[in-house]
Amino acid sequence: MNEENKKKVIQTFWEKQDHPNHSKQHEGEIWFRRFYDEIEFLLKDCKKGSILDMGFGSGDFLKYMSADYERVVGFDFSPAMCEKAKQLAEQLQLSNVTIYNGNVVNVDEVVKGEKFDCIVSFGVFQYITAAEAKISIEKASKLLKENGCIYILGIPDANMKVMHDIGVFHFAKNTKFSFRGMMKAILRLKYHEVKNSKQLKPKIDSFGYWHWRAEYREIADSLGLKYQIVNSIYEPYGYRFNIKLWN
Ligand SMILES: C[S@@+](CC[C@H](N)C(=O)[O-])C[C@H]1O[C@@H](n2cnc3c(N)ncnc32)[C@H](O)[C@@H]1O
Repeated sequence: MNEENKKKVIQTFWEKQDHPNHSKQHEGEIWFRRFYDEIEFLLKDCKKGSILDMGFGSGDFLKYMSADYERVVGFDFSPAMCEKAKQLAEQLQLSNVTIYNGNVVNVDEVVKGEKFDCIVSFGVFQYITAAEAKISIEKASKLLKENGCIYILGIPDANMKVMHDIGVFHFAKNTKFSFRGMMKAILRLKYHEVKNSKQLKPKIDSFGYWHWRAEYREIADSLGLKYQIVNSIYEPYGYRFNIKLWN
C-alpha cells in the first residue's frame, strides 16, 4: 500500500471513531486511569502550568489533566472524537479545558500561537510518518514556554516489531521458555507474514507506522533539541517507546 492510501485509510478509520481503541480488553475507566498514571509518571518533571494534548482521543485524559494543570488545551483530527471530548468537558464542567479540531502536523495553526509548559501526545505518532513527526515536533517546539518539554508517548518501536508479532509481549507472566513454544511463535510469525502479503484490502489495526528510535534521535539532533528515550512503566508495553524533547 502506498503512503497516500495508507494515510486515507488511517484518516477514514479515525474520522468515525469515538473511542481511542487502546485495545478491546483495555476499555473502561480503570484503563484510562492506568494509562494516565503512565503519562503522569513520564511527565513528573514538567511544570503543572499549561499543557497541550495532541490527539486526545475521547478526551478521557483531559479530565485528569484538568485537575492537574492550570490550563489544558487539546485537539484531535477526528470530528467524532472532538464531539465526544466536548460533551465530556461540558458534562464535567471542565472550565480550564479548550478543545480544537486539528492535525498534529499543523499544530501551530491549531492552537493559534498559544504557548505551553508541556506538550504531550500519547498513542498518536504511529499514525504519521517520521517525516511528518519531524514537522510536528519542529512546530510544537516553537510553542514551548521557557523550560517547557514535549513528550511523544507510546511510539511502536520498529526494532521490536518482530518480537511483538511473534507474541513475545503477550506471553502470560510466568510462562517458561520451551522449544515447542518458540516453534509455535515462529510459525505464527510466518503465518502473519504470508497473510499480510496476500491481503488486497488494507487492514487497519491499532498500529499504523512502527518508528525507529534512531529517527527520533536524528529529528532531535537536526532541530537542536535535547532528548531522552524512556520505556513504558508497564511490562507488556515494551514494544513501545516514549521520548522527551526540550530546548
Ligand atoms: C489510539 S488514539 C489515542 C487517543 C488518546 N491520546 C489516548 O491515548 O486515549 C489515537 C488518536 O489520535 C488521533 N489522531 C491520529 N492521527 C492524528 C493526526 N495526524 N492529528 C491529530 N490527531 C490524530 C485519532 O483521531 C485518535 O483519536
